[in-house]
Amino acid sequence: GKNIAIIVAAGKGKRMGRELNKQYILLENKPIVAYTLEVFEESEHVDEVILVVGENEMSFAQDNIIEKYGFKKIKQVVSGGKERQDSVYRGLLAIKEQCEIVVIHDGARPFLEKELLKKAVETAENIGAAIIAVPVKDTIKVVSEEMEVIDTPNRSLMWAVQTPQVFRYALLKEAYGRLIEEGLCATDDAMVVEKYGHTVKVIQGNYENIKITTPEDLVVAEGILRKEKR
Ligand code: CTP
Ligand code: MG
Repeated sequence: GKNIAIIVAAGKGKRMGRELNKQYILLENKPIVAYTLEVFEESEHVDEVILVVGENEMSFAQDNIIEKYGFKKIKQVVSGGKERQDSVYRGLLAIKEQCEIVVIHDGARPFLEKELLKKAVETAENIGAAIIAVPVKDTIKVVSEEMEVIDTPNRSLMWAVQTPQVFRYALLKEAYGRLIEEGLCATDDAMVVEKYGHTVKVIQGNYENIKITTPEDLVVAEGILRKEKR
């Protein structure tokens, strides 16, 4: 079977506070999501890409991203759903052929290293599920609605998870199907398979694989690009 990547880019980018969806903001004259797609275009570990975009952005993405940058691996553009998990699920439902491994990645994470993608795919091939994460730098507190501290988990056990999150296709598809059917929600993809008792392996990533979320992140992103050029 094939290795297929689902790139989710159908969010509204509310925290960025711009008119334009954040995925299309230019960094050194190129849209954020084009950086993201390049990593997959160039990876030997991914055969095809499904791009999930907002329902009003289908033709924009086709013309200004896929055609313009000449991406060859993008076999389908699918319209996303209300929540991220709905967008991922729509991507999963669009897979019609034999698929072994599915890679889920945020369109808003343009600085993924190819080597990490490779490691995640290989680990998922062996174990079934693998995610990229980094140790948290700050101490994390559990805080109540009344803004009182409830608990302080041991920092050395806390990891901030990123994407890619990579799975055997059959495993993720079945877990997502159950989740949606039961009307539950999950904030990342691994949670979906964890819920049904499957082991998820964690691979240590790096702090540059940021998700561009708020305006400060654009400043960081420009810094990362400048550093890469040197
Ligand atoms: N995403 C998606 N469909 C949604 C929500 C999110 O495809 N309904 C995608 C986003 O486009 C992004 C990734 O999931 O690449 C991570 O989500 P996030 O950073 O939260 O992006 P947005 O939801 O767009 O931003 P915000 O939460 O600030 O509105
Ligand atoms: Mg969001």
